[in-house]
Amino acid sequence: MRQPTPDVVAHRGASAHRAEHTRGAYELALEQGADALECDIRVSRDGHLVCVHDRRIDRTSSGRGVVSELTVAAMSEVDFGGWHQEPPRSADDLVRGPAAEPEHGVLLLDELLGLLRDNSRPVRLFIETKHPVRYGGLVERKLVALLARHGLATPADRENSPVLMMSFAQSAVRRFHEAAPGVPTVLLFDRFRGPLRSGVLPPWADLAGPGIRLLREDPGFVARAAALGRDTYCWTVDDPADIELCARSGVRFVATNAPASTRFHLAESGL
Ligand code: G3P
Ligand code: CA
Repeated sequence: MRQPTPDVVAHRGASAHRAEHTRGAYELALEQGADALECDIRVSRDGHLVCVHDRRIDRTSSGRGVVSELTVAAMSEVDFGGWHQEPPRSADDLVRGPAAEPEHGVLLLDELLGLLRDNSRPVRLFIETKHPVRYGGLVERKLVALLARHGLATPADRENSPVLMMSFAQSAVRRFHEAAPGVPTVLLFDRFRGPLRSGVLPPWADLAGPGIRLLREDPGFVARAAALGRDTYCWTVDDPADIELCARSGVRFVATNAPASTRFHLAESGL
């Protein structure tokens, strides 16, 4: 039977072409036709959910410091866009160097939800909580409260919920599910020690979230998840051979840094 084409999820925005987790990266992903966006969230010192992958802001901004020790005001003083260099695409780019895009201030999850609310077509958001164990559930509690403020904590149609929660930490996914059972969850894992190895996925995990390395070694993974009634979300898939592998094996969502080219390869492969 023909597999449905996977939905394209823009990993940290269109992060191959714009600095990750910036408004510009997410706006470009929307322009490129992404079906969904992905973001990582952490709690700032003053209790706001900010879209930052690393524990520190050093790699992705002009500033320095640990997210949980910085206020949003402090993080609004630094540039989260200028560090990123788009890969050169033309001879002119090689001479001039590609333009860096300044992005002042950290992106709040609240702002990203607003961007999606105002978008002309429905686009879903996969929200990954970072270091949930260290902060004893604080990130998940804040997330449930923010989703409730946006009217997203109890979606009318769970299958098509505008937001999904994800984590590598089983405790975080379970805790979130208990607080917001209407919002679907993804349990992420990177190696074969994940729960599916033993043929069991916990009831509070709606989707299986393997890394692409796992799928390359074990393409039958997706069928096993399907036998348990679970769709698969696979990350991070930029290579055409990996995109095809995902499509052939029945992955439901592919997370990619380059939504436009991933869409192109999916269309080209005719899958
Ligand atoms: O989408 C899941 C994936 O983002 C997990 O890895 O390190 O990119 O957050 P990481
Ligand atoms: Ca992530």
